[in-house]
Amino acid sequence: LRLGCLASGGGSNLQAIIDRCRDGSLAAEISVVISNKPDSGALQRARNAGIPALCIDHRNFPTREDFDRAVVAALLEAGVELIVLAGFMRLISDVFLDAFPGRIMNIHPALLPAFPGLHVQRKALEYGARVTGATVHFVDGGVDTGPIVIQAVVPILDDDTEESLSARILEQEHRIYPRAIELFAQGRLRIDGRRVRIEPPLP
Ligand code: GRF
Repeated sequence: LRLGCLASGGGSNLQAIIDRCRDGSLAAEISVVISNKPDSGALQRARNAGIPALCIDHRNFPTREDFDRAVVAALLEAGVELIVLAGFMRLISDVFLDAFPGRIMNIHPALLPAFPGLHVQRKALEYGARVTGATVHFVDGGVDTGPIVIQAVVPILDDDTEESLSARILEQEHRIYPRAIELFAQGRLRIDGRRVRIEPPLP
């Protein structure tokens, strides 16, 4: 399965996927990594892994659609079959969704539908929630609203800080994102309206 990874930040989720492709436990290859941030750690990690790394800077485009068209063109050029958003801090326009229907995944550091949006680790902590977690979902036209593939739960501890909680969530992200991609690669995911059916079901 040919993957196109989009990231704006440090790229630890990207690294987890790179590692799993490398050790053969994920039957996929990353064909291209694209970032909108010239100095993102994700681009550096791609270069270190010998993976084609592109910076497509959204500031160089007059509209969101023009930026998305440039990104889509690069992804099509690389022949990718699944788009993996890994800390990509841009909203996906219809240009993107129309080019890759049912083929864009995202990871969110909370248990959707709880805590959509940004800084959600801190929001869960400040809310006084007892658990939170991570969600891998297909991307649809909304923000953090697409059909959910896998979720993982982590406890929120009394002495947690935003950092300690974020680190605990990230550990789970690095586990469930490659797993979700593996299920897609195995053809085991069926989007059925709002729900994703896994065939055969997970144990
Ligand atoms: C992760 O917390 C992910 O859930 C969110 O952005 C962060 C990306 O972290 N979408 P990294 O760049 O993969 O380390």
